[in-house]
Amino acid sequence: MALVIALMAPFQLQCRFLQCRFSAFGPRAFALLRTRSAGVAAACLLLAIAAHAVFAQAPATPGTTIVLTQEPITPIPPPPTVDPLKLTLGEELFHSRLLSHDQTRSCVSCHDVRTNGADGWRHAIGSDGKPLEFNTPSVFNAALSFRLNWEGNERTLAAQATLAINSGPGLGSSMPEVLARLNANHDFVGRFNAAYGRNPDESTLINALATYERSLVTPDSPFDRWLKGDKGALSAAQLNGYALFKSFGCVSCHQGVNVGGNMFERQGVFHRLASAKPEVLRVPSLRNVATTAPYFHDGSAPTLTDAVRKMAAAQLDQTLSEQEIDAIVAFLGSLTGNYHGVPVKAAAR
Ligand code: HEC
Ligand code: HEC
Repeated sequence: MALVIALMAPFQLQCRFLQCRFSAFGPRAFALLRTRSAGVAAACLLLAIAAHAVFAQAPATPGTTIVLTQEPITPIPPPPTVDPLKLTLGEELFHSRLLSHDQTRSCVSCHDVRTNGADGWRHAIGSDGKPLEFNTPSVFNAALSFRLNWEGNERTLAAQATLAINSGPGLGSSMPEVLARLNANHDFVGRFNAAYGRNPDESTLINALATYERSLVTPDSPFDRWLKGDKGALSAAQLNGYALFKSFGCVSCHQGVNVGGNMFERQGVFHRLASAKPEVLRVPSLRNVATTAPYFHDGSAPTLTDAVRKMAAAQLDQTLSEQEIDAIVAFLGSLTGNYHGVPVKAAAR
């Protein structure tokens, strides 16, 4: 039995690391091991091995290090090491107006990487002049979420970027149109050839964009410094806010490396929150959340204070005091990280 428990240990770590996917399973398997027969224990072990094999296939973030912590949130890893030619090409494409139908906008029009990786609007305006269906989420740390978009309908940055170029109302373009334009651009043709050894095509365009997006991580927030052992990184109010965030149960949905971004949940469980549709959303990441007002999929909460108050009521059936809200808002402020060594800041309108 001791041997079986010892064998389980790595899987338990994997469970903690993968958090939502596994957190319930890991401890339960352990409890079984302690109380039930060797047969059950062996079954558990087999299940754990099978699950490990399946989940080990999940898109892992290159360069991720496992931090052994008892906290339900783990620090943002440094950006992965990638081919610098692909990275800078992706950066240039992300900023290029050639990607939009009327050549007036680029990814960065809505995902401003000099500020918060998003915009400050309730809804950005699409290329057809109409407001988009959803508030713009930040591209910062998107690579660390298990699904993309509010509804979590895309699994990879590549699939998301293909959608943004091909059928998104944001750019109003199409893949053939964008590829024709890039192939007619002497500078881009040279850079694609330098990075990929061939002219622009769909897979190299998408690969370059996704490579750049994977570099858009924001490590070294005060909270992450605290997680890594710098006990002075958080104020008393922030520590109190974190304790409340855990004790009220916010952390049951907002957890893992992105403080969200790793499960689907219903919104408006106890009380109406925002627009009733879609009912089920990918729990959003709260990384840099102090800089990304307005909040919710429909941008209906103008301030973080308002968002926290509504969350507690809608998702937990709790009425928070002003002091509790202030403390949680202070804690959320400690989740603002650095991009290129500079703290992420709110977008100018
Ligand atoms: C006009 C504004 C606009 C433009 C331009 C735009 N986006 Fe977005 N982006 C959005 C909105 C709105 C969403 C949310 C869509 C949804 O939830 O269905 C989004 C979602 C995303 C996400 C998912 C983020 C997450 O955390 O889930 C990524 C990644 C992304 N966009 C990358 C890009 C790239 C790459 C481009 C350029 C090829 C681009 N976007 C162009 C508005 C825009
Ligand atoms: C049952 C799961 C669940 C719980 C518990 C929960 N949340 Fe959320 N949270 C969500 C979902 C889902 C959304 C997206 C809601 C929407 O956009 O309509 C969200 C959105 C948010 C947002 C806005 C993020 C953004 O970028 O717009 C904040 C801030 C937030 N939650 C904080 C909290 C706090 C603080 C608590 C505890 C008081 C909490 N949440 C508890 C699931 C949850």
